[in-house]
Amino acid sequence: MKGVKQILALSFILLIGYSCQNKVKDQPAIEVTTALYGEPHRPQYHFSPPANWMNDPNGMVFHKGNYHLFYQYYPDSNVWGPMHWGHAISKDLVSWENLPIAIAPDSLGWIFSGSAVLDKQNSSGLGSIENPPLVAIYTYHDNVKGDAGRIDFQTQGIAYSLDDGVSWDKYKENPVLANPGIKDFRDPKVTKMEVGGKSMWIMSLAVKDKISFYSSSNLLEWTHESDFNPDWAAYGGVWECPDLFPLQSPDGEQKWVLFVSINPGGPNGGSATQYFIGDFDGETFTTNQQDIKWLDHGTDNYAGVTWSNVPDSDGRKIFIGWMSNWNYAQVVPTEAWRSAMTLPRTLFLFGEGEEHWIGSKPVKEVEQLRDRALTIEGEKITLENELLEVYLKPKTTDFSATFENEFGESLVIGKREGELYIDRTKSGLTDFNEGFASIITAPLNEFDVNEVRILLDRSSIEVFVNEGTLAMTALVFPQHPYSKLLLNGFEKENKGFSLKKIW
Ligand code: FRU
Repeated sequence: MKGVKQILALSFILLIGYSCQNKVKDQPAIEVTTALYGEPHRPQYHFSPPANWMNDPNGMVFHKGNYHLFYQYYPDSNVWGPMHWGHAISKDLVSWENLPIAIAPDSLGWIFSGSAVLDKQNSSGLGSIENPPLVAIYTYHDNVKGDAGRIDFQTQGIAYSLDDGVSWDKYKENPVLANPGIKDFRDPKVTKMEVGGKSMWIMSLAVKDKISFYSSSNLLEWTHESDFNPDWAAYGGVWECPDLFPLQSPDGEQKWVLFVSINPGGPNGGSATQYFIGDFDGETFTTNQQDIKWLDHGTDNYAGVTWSNVPDSDGRKIFIGWMSNWNYAQVVPTEAWRSAMTLPRTLFLFGEGEEHWIGSKPVKEVEQLRDRALTIEGEKITLENELLEVYLKPKTTDFSATFENEFGESLVIGKREGELYIDRTKSGLTDFNEGFASIITAPLNEFDVNEVRILLDRSSIEVFVNEGTLAMTALVFPQHPYSKLLLNGFEKENKGFSLKKIW
């Protein structure tokens, strides 16, 4: 307990500078110390904020060798509150450097989720051709209006950076998109596309239970183009955090993909991200899809979107998600910090003919985390490291892999009745939320499971079947590291790696 108090005190001292909302530029980044990243349950190779509350990833843009990660951040508490954009950068998507808060609330409201682009041609006029601006497009959430019972309290605003993302100025004529009288009107994700030989900015916006598309030639004036809300989609909760981007199918055809996060209404309860594969012509998104598809079948991958401006020479669509669920995000048993991100993942399309799905797997840079190669032999393996990556080859139709410790806590990943499952009913601390002690399932349909790749951090498990054709992400809070792995239904010899800490 003493440790936690000391860390909280330290965090408080470090965060005092953050309380003045208009002085973001002068504030120092929080210094990373081993104590700060050594708290119980603190992820050791996933991104988590130095202190206090984090939710969605925001404004992800690659620029001058850095992957920028902004995030929904409340620097004064470990529960959700007035939102800021926190900021970190990485050169390799593995190790992260914390930077000062990028964007803080102002008289127009709190800073909700959004995106960032490099305005290379200076179409906005906010920079110059020689020094093109990074432009962030986000939602203003006017809590004063909201508290007064109005429904038009979300608008879209812009901030820009002329020093490669370190400091941000708000656009003077904000908001750039006024509220038309709709309560949920948020999370602008902007992408660039060529339409009829002209370069256009396209904004996807979550508007209650549909996605609205807007276009602009300068990021400042926006024209409504169309709405997307097919009858058969998932509508269990409000639509949030869209992302629209092209991706090549295995036969080289370009498809357009639309991500829509939804809360509640996910396949295992609470928050989850559905996706649509189709076409986008600059105005309208169309699809032949007729069924609901989920990006990740676990409970804890939400509001994820992709990085903009990744060079064509790289060619990847790189994604990161918030590794939590609104069902319990604010009560998970952590104190000094709350929430982490998933591992960054490469997205790909697979399937044949008309039917395609999105696969996701950890970016290849994650291999840099590998410390020692492990040969996993037999059915009962003693684990020496709590940070693990294992590759298991199933031998029988049904199988199970159980991580357990001497205190009776266990976490099971398995297959039965045509479903993959993660059983976290006895995985550790679960009583902070009624539904947390659950068995999370994913239908496998007719897919054969050839390989199960598992990445275990202190408080999360990420499972990838057959190189990422199916992903499941879940939080777990064991009170002691899992020290044994029991295998049932796998080949005699499997491989794995112990992983390094990044903090
Ligand atoms: C998704 C979300 C967004 C919103 C943000 C507020 O988790 O609800 O729709 O912009 O979080 O923090």
